[in-house]
Amino acid sequence: MISAQQPPFPNKIQRTMDCQSEEEETCEEQYDSENCTCSSEHAESDAGSPVTLKILQNWVPRVSHYFDKEHYTYVGHQIVIQESIEHFGAVVWPGALALSQYLESNQEQFNLKDKKVLEIGAGTGLLSIVACILGAHVTATDLPEVLENLSYNISRNTKNLNMRKPEVRKLVWGESLNEDFPVSTYHYDFILATDVVYHHGALDPLLATMVHFCKPGTVLLWANKFRFSTDYEFLEKVCNIFNTTILAEFPESNVKLLKATVRKN
Ligand SMILES: C[S@@+](CC[C@H](N)C(=O)[O-])C[C@H]1O[C@@H](n2cnc3c(N)ncnc32)[C@H](O)[C@@H]1O
Repeated sequence: MISAQQPPFPNKIQRTMDCQSEEEETCEEQYDSENCTCSSEHAESDAGSPVTLKILQNWVPRVSHYFDKEHYTYVGHQIVIQESIEHFGAVVWPGALALSQYLESNQEQFNLKDKKVLEIGAGTGLLSIVACILGAHVTATDLPEVLENLSYNISRNTKNLNMRKPEVRKLVWGESLNEDFPVSTYHYDFILATDVVYHHGALDPLLATMVHFCKPGTVLLWANKFRFSTDYEFLEKVCNIFNTTILAEFPESNVKLLKATVRKN
């Protein structure tokens, strides 16, 4: 088992703010959160160097939606993730950073090349993109309302890769699993799940989904930030059903990473 180094998730390198106004006007500017300034390529500079605009001092919100773009580097690839404020699946959670970093650093132990990988609750798609870069044949799944942004991020970040493009599918935990993902047809080498356990009412269907997909030969990799007593209760249930090992702990973010496999009778 390892403990993460400081800082916990060094692959996140930059934040870009991407705003859409009601008139669909788009601006993309380098955002310096420490100084509350934005530097724009379009700004003029008499010294020939980029001008720093103090625009935030006078900034009034005139946007109806906004998207943040987060920039990461994994396995030598820059990944740009579009986030939004609309739902849980629209931002990158610490579990996704933890497992992405772990897979990047442990490619011999978990070789994803040509492996069939299913991600449940994929959210923005960062981890599925990393798995694709590592050579996996990925299916990224989530609730219907999350799929548009998930597809956008996956397509944008994998279009120039010489890898098999990830598939994006609806998968609501515990619903129509035998119809949509019959075990006779769908066998995955890895199931990835990050920060799927938090305060929501679908923990039993989530566990049923893990059991449905975790068959002999499948490795479930689950990374989660632990906050609530219900998170620990879920962990206990997982440990009672599967063979489990804690692969890593990230104390700064209270994230644990578990490997689970089916129990042999
Ligand atoms: C906290 S977010 C984590 C997203 C992503 N895995 C990450 O770590 O950044 C939880 C994800 O689970 C999805 N989710 C929540 N309830 C679900 C359900 N009943 N069926 C399928 N997905 C669900 C959400 O849409 C969201 O993408």
